[in-house]
Amino acid sequence: MTLPFALARRFVAGQTLSEALPALDPLLDDGRFVTLDLLGEDVTDRGRAAAFAGVYTDLVGRLADYRDARGAAPEAVGISIKLSMIGQVVDRDLCEASLRSLLAQAKEADVFVRLDMEGSALTQSTLDVFEAVYPDFPDHVGPVLQAYLHRTDADVARMCALNARVRLCKGAYKEPPSLAYPDMPTIRWHYRRYADRLLTDARYPGIATHDDELIESVKQLVEERGVSRDAFEFQMLYGLRPETQRQLINDGYRMRVYVPYGTEWLPYFSRRLRERKENAFFVLKALVRG
Ligand code: FDA
Repeated sequence: MTLPFALARRFVAGQTLSEALPALDPLLDDGRFVTLDLLGEDVTDRGRAAAFAGVYTDLVGRLADYRDARGAAPEAVGISIKLSMIGQVVDRDLCEASLRSLLAQAKEADVFVRLDMEGSALTQSTLDVFEAVYPDFPDHVGPVLQAYLHRTDADVARMCALNARVRLCKGAYKEPPSLAYPDMPTIRWHYRRYADRLLTDARYPGIATHDDELIESVKQLVEERGVSRDAFEFQMLYGLRPETQRQLINDGYRMRVYVPYGTEWLPYFSRRLRERKENAFFVLKALVRG
């Protein structure tokens, strides 16, 4: 069965950039920041990987024009990219070269580029590519770390040593218990510890979660450690918890919304459905209604 895009519309801002850009307006209007993500992953064809890198480079230019036309601050808009979209799984050199030219454009336009983290088979190579480019673009690139992976303790220490800008999330991929903690209390426990270290020993972390328990813990940590509310940001996904997003802004915190768009929305959409039964229920209801 082919699922119609209308089902994903709640989580995906559009299938083209022209459809997605207007979705940014209301977010920026009330003080939220955005990161735009062109959906796509696991590209195994060199030509397609190079083509996607070109599309991403155009995206940086168009996003910067959009930002400047609105008079928004540089940090208000950014992009996220999965390295497997630009050649990571076929040719690491091609991937690094494409990322370098994307970052050169991003530095010129003052747009921050987040390297999304994918399944554990790609963790080391994503961090290797990050470390290879980071010295040349220290203010314009940062990785994602996943609290569910056993290895993340060491990765947090490394990112603190590099003073890197990290997005911390729980992790969205199916991983074996030999690599990842399977239960929520343990993942939350690690998430809190990593958030504490990133807030105190690294630079401007992104606290990516919709989980009230973690949000409250981070607010408390920030108070206890005397961290300024503009020294980090909360991050949530487009279409999830908009009222909580606005509340955090009203309370003086920074909030960034991750806005995905593109025709390759199915894997992203499936991960959102797996995460919460309410999301799957919403789709079932729409299917039944026709
Ligand atoms: P989760 O879905 O685990 O929910 C936990 C609890 O939060 C719930 O029991 C409930 O109490 C509360 N809650 C959550 N949603 C709610 C709602 N709608 N209403 C009320 N209560 C709610 N993953 C990855 O592997 N690589 C990546 O690069 C990224 N990038 C990324 C960016 C951003 C900005 C975000 C927010 C997330 C990611 N992720 C990710 C996804 C991440 O790893 C994770 O899978 C999801 O965020 C789900 O975990 P949460 O902590 O958000 O809450």
